[in-house]
Amino acid sequence: PTMLVPTFDRAVFAHRGLPTQAPENTMESFALAVDKGATWLETDVDILSDGTPVIIHDSTLDRTTDRSGSFYTLIAEDLTTIDAGSWYGEEFAGARLPLLSEFVDFLNERGVNANVEIKQNEQGAERTILLVDAVAKELSRLDPGVQVIVSSFGQPLLMKFHERHPEYAIGVLYETAALYDDWRSVLELCGATYIHPEDSGLTAAKVRDYRAAGYGVNVWTVDDVDRAHQLFNWGCTGVFTNRSAALQHLA
Ligand code: G3P
Ligand code: MG
Repeated sequence: PTMLVPTFDRAVFAHRGLPTQAPENTMESFALAVDKGATWLETDVDILSDGTPVIIHDSTLDRTTDRSGSFYTLIAEDLTTIDAGSWYGEEFAGARLPLLSEFVDFLNERGVNANVEIKQNEQGAERTILLVDAVAKELSRLDPGVQVIVSSFGQPLLMKFHERHPEYAIGVLYETAALYDDWRSVLELCGATYIHPEDSGLTAAKVRDYRAAGYGVNVWTVDDVDRAHQLFNWGCTGVFTNRSAALQHLA
C-alpha cells in the first residue's frame, strides 16, 4: 500500500477534550473543546467485555467515575449507571463514559478530526485483535472529510492494526523525546505517518531528524503557549494540549 504522508502543518489536538473546563473524555468535554474552536480532538479507547469500544483513559473506573475497579467485565448498557462527571463538579453529574460510536457520530456531526489513541490492551493477544477490529469498524463510519490518526504506545497492537487496516494513518507514541535506537524500523513496521514523542527533552535537532525521515511529529502534552510556538517553528506538525482554547490561535 502507498505510504500515508502528513496532511497538516499545525494541529492543536484537544487532549481528552477540554479537561481544564469539563471532565476529561466525556461528550461534554469534547463539545466544549469544539465550541471553543478545536478542530482536532484526542481521545483514549479500550474495550468492554461485550466487545464494545469505550472511551476512557485509565484501566480502572476509580479516578474518573463514581465507581471503582475494572471495566473489563462490563457491557455497554452498564455505562448508563456510571457517573463520569460528578467527580469533576456537580454541574457535570450524569455525564457518561462515551462509546466510540457516539464519538464517531459527534465527529461526523461537527466535522472535526480526531486522534484515537488505543490503550495497550491488558487482556492478551486475542482481545487485542478484537479491539483493533472493533475500533476500525467504528472508524469506517467516519465521513470522508473527517481525518483520523490511530495511535498507541503498544507497538505490537499498532502493527496488528496496520496489518489488518492499512488505510488508516498511524502515530507511534513514545514516553520519551529521544525514542529508542530501533525507531526507524519500528515506525516502518507500524506503517507510521506520525511520531508522537513526549515533550520534555525534545530539541530542534531531533525534530529535524524525525521530519527528514518523512514523519510528522505530534508532541504531548504541551500546555504552554510559548513552548507550543517553539515546537511549531521547529517543524512539529501538532501538539496535544489540555488547553486547546488557549493554543488554538497557533494552528
Ligand atoms: O495521545 C497523547 C497522550 O494522550 C498520550 O498519553 O496518557 O495522556 O494517553 P496519555
Ligand atoms: Mg491519550
